[in-house]
Amino acid sequence: MNILNELRRRFGRSIEELDVDHAAAVQMVQPAQDARFGDYQINAAMSLAKRWKRPPREVAAELLDRLELEPICDVPEIAGPGFINLRLRDDWIADRIVELAADPRLGVSPTSDPETYVIDYSSPNVAKPMHVGHIRSTVIGDALYRILGFLGHRTISDNHLGDWGTQFGMILYGFKHFRDDERFRTDPVAELARLYQVVNRLIDYEKKRSSLPQWETRLGDLRAALENADAEGGDDKKARKRRRRLQQEIEQLAGTIEQAQATITRVESDRQLASLLDHACQLESAVLTETAKLHEGDEENRRLWEQFMPHCKQALSRVYQRLGVRFDYEYGESFYHDALDALVQKLLDDGLAEESEGAICIFFDDFETPMIVRKRDGAFLYATTDLATIAFRMKTWQPDAILYVVDHRQSEHFSKLFAAARKIGYTDVRLVHVAFGTVLGEDGRPFKTRSGDVVGLESLLDEAVERAYQVVSANDDAKRDGAELDERERRHIAEVVGIGAIKYADLSHHRTSDYVFSYDQMLALEGNTATYLQYSYARIRSIFAKGDFDPESAAQVDPWQWEAPIERELALQLLRLPEALQDVEADYTPHQLTGYLYELANRFHKFYQQCPVLRAETDRLRRSRLLLCELVARTIRTGLQLLGIDVVERM
Ligand code: ARG
Repeated sequence: MNILNELRRRFGRSIEELDVDHAAAVQMVQPAQDARFGDYQINAAMSLAKRWKRPPREVAAELLDRLELEPICDVPEIAGPGFINLRLRDDWIADRIVELAADPRLGVSPTSDPETYVIDYSSPNVAKPMHVGHIRSTVIGDALYRILGFLGHRTISDNHLGDWGTQFGMILYGFKHFRDDERFRTDPVAELARLYQVVNRLIDYEKKRSSLPQWETRLGDLRAALENADAEGGDDKKARKRRRRLQQEIEQLAGTIEQAQATITRVESDRQLASLLDHACQLESAVLTETAKLHEGDEENRRLWEQFMPHCKQALSRVYQRLGVRFDYEYGESFYHDALDALVQKLLDDGLAEESEGAICIFFDDFETPMIVRKRDGAFLYATTDLATIAFRMKTWQPDAILYVVDHRQSEHFSKLFAAARKIGYTDVRLVHVAFGTVLGEDGRPFKTRSGDVVGLESLLDEAVERAYQVVSANDDAKRDGAELDERERRHIAEVVGIGAIKYADLSHHRTSDYVFSYDQMLALEGNTATYLQYSYARIRSIFAKGDFDPESAAQVDPWQWEAPIERELALQLLRLPEALQDVEADYTPHQLTGYLYELANRFHKFYQQCPVLRAETDRLRRSRLLLCELVARTIRTGLQLLGIDVVERM
């Protein structure tokens, strides 16, 4: 049962006949901010009093008069200016705990209003190795997929692979001009990744090399301007501000130049890259040509694409397998290619798109720039494919919502895409950009290696697992009765803990904020980490192991009994899983589940410190406490599973 919803339902019914904004009033039923004032509160009296021009306490009394709270709460007092503080009845809580014990869904009933969700996540560009940036989309998307499914919705995950873009032009070019046949035979994925990297670095090199003279001229100008400004002096605010701005610009540009020079030196002193510099100057356009040829159906490029794809997909699935992520569908961009011509034609026919400077564009009232669906040279764009994708998904699955779990830097793309979709007539589907922020290094900048490369996802996972192994081993070695785990078990636990740590660190931050990637933090045994929750779970399992009895039967008790206030607090938290999941659903924010689990584990540890379990005074109290332990373990396990994270029975 969702207690908050039940209270809201009752309150809503009680004010049906009153002249109030029903939806807003119902939202005024909230969990209490401070446990001293009860468990829930209704804060509607004050605003209603203002509207009705009556004393708030009187309004509160009238609301209470109409409200049927039996048997959940006793009739509450009115506090202060008109707060209604609700305290759940202890016997009612006890009954719910007994009920919870028999409920494999832990009180979460499937929604009475199931919807169909298509969730677009992970969606990497396949010809290049996955990097740290792909964690967020993959992990957040997977958690939403699991949670919405658990809530009773129909969920369809679709990995919109970038299997058709310029990055294929890059490996096509690389493959034709500097592949290593021997390496391609023995490890095709590594060779393709290498080719991608070589082409990428050469293009980057060329961009920087050709921009350098302009940047240096500009730097000279800025320095001269600053000297002038210094000479002119002037101590007023405006002059100072101007000098500061110039100074900043100089520093920034000098930094850019320094980095560019470093890149250039690195490439020129790399034996292999240096031998390929002849390719660099026309490379960018050559890559576009290769991509265009692929799209036009050029035989050789298509054949190579067919040859590359299985290898690329295999590399991806290795990562997905390790992360425990699977997709219902993987319709990549290439899947839509043949539909694009007709789509653009139809947009033109329907008067939704028009030609502008040779390109085909959709114009909007709310945006300055249009959405281009076909370039002057005939090429289609990312946006064109995304429109075709919406059409396909609507036709195939008739979803109520499509969620795009994609970096916030694409928000303009999605705003326009959604506006275009509405123009086309897709008006009764919710299109949502579930945006997320950037993963930062400990220096506060986007997470990179020291040489400036983005960090590959696989090496990141390896590192986390290796560090988890150290944590697990140290913890085991320090056990009072000596270590319990053999090498194989330690390795297994390290994998679960390491991968869990990475996922949880990501999920526990509000998805729209940036966060700092820190192994030490994410693997801490205390704090808001997966490790802490996994450890709490294993600890509870060890209580049952020590007791040498079957958890199912030992934890059976009716009526459930409690003594210390912390037991009631823990019980209440157990009953609130449905509310946490409802919060996740409302804004697509998994951190509301991690926050819930963290609070649950905190309360559990407090309880475990204060209340003897196996040595409780009476059999009934012991059973009641064992039941709390058992429910905490089940809730942690289920909660983590909904986040795509595993538990281990001992640690
Ligand atoms: N492949 C894109 C990228 O790596 C993300 C695709 C997101 N999904 C979509 N339907 N546009 O940036």
